Amino acid sequence: MLKTGTTITRRGLGAILAAGLLATGLAACGNSDTGSEGGDDGKIVLGFSQVGAESGWRTANTNSIKESAAAAGIELKFDDAQQKQENQIKAIRNFIQQKVDVIAFSPVVESGWDTVLKEAKDAKIPVILTDRAVDSADKSLYKTFIGSDFVKEGRLAGEWLVEQKKTATGPVNIVELQGTTGSAPANDRKKGFAEAIAANPNLKVVASQSGDFTRAGGKQVMEQFLKANPKIDVLFAHNDDMGLGALEAITAAGKVPGKDITIITIDAVKDGMQALADGKFNFIAECSPLLGDQLMELVKKVKAGETVPARVETQETTFTQEQAKAALPTRKY
Ligand code: AHR
Repeated sequence: MLKTGTTITRRGLGAILAAGLLATGLAACGNSDTGSEGGDDGKIVLGFSQVGAESGWRTANTNSIKESAAAAGIELKFDDAQQKQENQIKAIRNFIQQKVDVIAFSPVVESGWDTVLKEAKDAKIPVILTDRAVDSADKSLYKTFIGSDFVKEGRLAGEWLVEQKKTATGPVNIVELQGTTGSAPANDRKKGFAEAIAANPNLKVVASQSGDFTRAGGKQVMEQFLKANPKIDVLFAHNDDMGLGALEAITAAGKVPGKDITIITIDAVKDGMQALADGKFNFIAECSPLLGDQLMELVKKVKAGETVPARVETQETTFTQEQAKAALPTRKY
């Protein structure tokens, strides 16, 4: 700090400004190699690459991460990849270049991450997977995973259906709206659902296609399903948003959602819960987007070099129409 009355030449001022800029630049770069906290102010810098903004779930997840980072005093560098893997890889490389302290990301698809994860490891920047997993054989490329058991969610959806249709004598035709092709939730929910209904020969998936986890995708694919399949008894949508889009297609086709077609979805975001309470959906398996607080705890721990569990699973439940009515007033997202 300059004292009052200090005289200073132009060249001297230039030198002071240059030194100041250098100091600011170094502070922004963090200090990941030493294992000490990033930034001169002791703040941990977290680079987070989000999948996109494809669903109500994703919006709630983004809000949770931003709010929790602010509350934990962690500096967040946030990037929205718009559902594109190449954008996520670019964002992770940028975080490496900026020498953030920790990188976290929700991988849009499961495969193809080894190279960039190896680059992060070589730069000694710990990586945390949130929400979605990768299929890398080398588990040392990331520190931990925090998120849901997607196979279980699909299984819970299937088990509910098996129970509902246990007295059915004729065929029950199911159409499935899958999430983003190649993503962990799409792969796993499909698997869990198929496993749950496998022993019941009446229950048959007659069509299964991706609606990319969006409302528009759900509506468009459901329109095709309705045109191609004269008898649809059940819709299993891998998330609420696709189910909500499908509602429009079903109504436009002159059918009553929740009655003519039983609708099962996953997530339990507010709009989905409202549709369930209104009798348009029949069952939802919950997938919690509120990962922010636990993520920040893990960020602090991995930065401090503490051991963390290989997998941290989110606590979740399921909702019937009656349960949705009871839960809606206090639903946070
Ligand atoms: O990965 C979680 C899934 O991604 C949610 O179920 C879905 O809504 C989101 O787009």
